[in-house]
Amino acid sequence: MSNYFPQELIDQVRSANDIVEVVSEYVSLKKKGRNYFGLCPFHTEKTPSFSVNPEKQIFHCFGCGQGGNAVSFLMTHDKLGFVEAIKLLAKRANIRLPQKEYDRKKLELTDKLYHANQMGAAYYSGNLSGLPSGKEAQAYLEKRRVSKETSKTFQLGLALEEWDGLLKFCISKGVEQQTLLTAGLIIERSDGKGFYDRFKNRLMFPIFNLSGKIVALAGRIIDEKDNPKYLNSPETPIYQKGKLLYGLNFSKEKIRESRFAIVVEGYMDFLSLHQAGLQNLVASCGTAFSANQARLLARFAEEVILLFDSDNAGEKATLRSVDLLYDAGLEVKVAVLPKGFDPDSYLNNYGELKLRELINQAVGYVKFKASFLNDRFANLSLREQEGILMDFAQTAARISQGVRRELFLKQVSEQLDVSESIVRKALLTVTGKKDTEQIAARVAPQKPGPQAWEKEFLALVMDNWHWFKKAETEIVAEDFSTSHHQELWRFLSQQNQAREEFDLADFLEKAENASLRQLLLEIASLDFLGVESETLFEDYIRRFRAERREREINKVKQSLKNAEAVKDEEAVQTLSSKLHNLLQENTLTVSSEKTS
Ligand code: GTP
Ligand code: MN
Repeated sequence: MSNYFPQELIDQVRSANDIVEVVSEYVSLKKKGRNYFGLCPFHTEKTPSFSVNPEKQIFHCFGCGQGGNAVSFLMTHDKLGFVEAIKLLAKRANIRLPQKEYDRKKLELTDKLYHANQMGAAYYSGNLSGLPSGKEAQAYLEKRRVSKETSKTFQLGLALEEWDGLLKFCISKGVEQQTLLTAGLIIERSDGKGFYDRFKNRLMFPIFNLSGKIVALAGRIIDEKDNPKYLNSPETPIYQKGKLLYGLNFSKEKIRESRFAIVVEGYMDFLSLHQAGLQNLVASCGTAFSANQARLLARFAEEVILLFDSDNAGEKATLRSVDLLYDAGLEVKVAVLPKGFDPDSYLNNYGELKLRELINQAVGYVKFKASFLNDRFANLSLREQEGILMDFAQTAARISQGVRRELFLKQVSEQLDVSESIVRKALLTVTGKKDTEQIAARVAPQKPGPQAWEKEFLALVMDNWHWFKKAETEIVAEDFSTSHHQELWRFLSQQNQAREEFDLADFLEKAENASLRQLLLEIASLDFLGVESETLFEDYIRRFRAERREREINKVKQSLKNAEAVKDEEAVQTLSSKLHNLLQENTLTVSSEKTS
């Protein structure tokens, strides 16, 4: 991470942000003596044991032991990577950060695309707020009960009945035509003689990435006779549909707090619920979740509640991705609205409380799915019964947590009213294993468990070989939790001496045993990477460091225990002070986490 930002600059950003002010944005602090105290945001407590020391610029919770500086506070609290946290603090202090050295070309394009989208959104929102151009659309929003404030927060806009309004505006703001084209905001005429705007006569919704940057636009028809109902920017280097969830940048904190995420389908549903204060929310935009999106959500949520209208509720696109949600370690529940309503219209008709009630009554996925059977399970044909059981078994096989998988099987047996042994048999057929306990070994455990993130990290560096080179100076094979990952890391190090690039085909040839080849393949196909990958990389490196420290601390703790057991006073003395030093170092390291 060393040369991402120069150290002086990081120091400048740090010193420009007083920790008391930064923390105060999240925790209400009261001064007591030299320190400030408040309720710890990292664990639940009734009396304040969370302290902030303005002299040392560190925080520490006497309750849960969390500690660090302003940067690590943001990292832990907002689940940010180091770079992301520094960027946030820089913004707070109005300090401009330079771009990093490598990948400058790519970054330049990325920046240009962000800028183009930002300008495009600015143009459209200008149209919406301007009179008389925006009058009709404003009336429409009013009819839909979207407040001015919501419209502003989500930077809604309006594409007018015109050919090249956006094009002209953006060019006048210094955006290059080529950039607009790459961003998909304009389209080349089929006769090759010029360009026109992609969006026309539409209500515009900017699509934000996790850091709140606009990466694409979506437009809804205003005249119900037009089609298609929604039109989106095409995929670009900064916008990959499957790697982003609409609204997560607004809701990640609320999702983390409540531990669950409500998933609605539409942009309008999102706006409307958010406006009513139901903010632990994302929109699936009418498509099935990708593995990436599921994992992204699992970074913040433990459970998802799919909130559907009842029209074909059993056939919703989102439901097709339930397996992926389980894969990511999420628990799935479903809440179904009465016939004829979607979340937005239900809310407007019955109010927030009723909607909350309905969400609270969400049922587990198994029960939901079982409710769509045409008949009692027992009355179905054997083939149908088998199909249903196998379906559930497929999902069960995705659950890597043993206990949870057992509970899932139990639910299936209860809901269908068949014996658990039959359900288990279906699972065994799916997995091809004799013992359900071995499934975890076959189905890659995702979150929680150490291996999932290690795999993602490996996927990241395999895809960005320069990061592997970078990581290699810091991370050793022993830092990985399983012998398989260790073996892979050693293998990659070996290969790295010989070549500049990661080459799967070549590596597979060189890998000596089948399990290594299988792991290579599995990880190479993970594809967890998105535009947020720099942040992720930083996150992972930090995590390796933290785990290494943790291991060392545990080792000393164990020795200390042993020494105490045999009453070896001298050893107890040495080990206690060693432990003390380590713990202190731990807090300090976190608090002064350098990029080098
Ligand atoms: P309203 O009808 O205004 O309430 O909009 P909505 O956002 O509730 O839309 P709807 O329930 O019809 O669809 C849910 C989501 O699916 C939308 O928000 C879009 O993200 C997506 N979607 C719907 N229709 C289309 C379409 O024609 N094209 C594309 N690309 N996406 C669509
Ligand atoms: Mn709707």
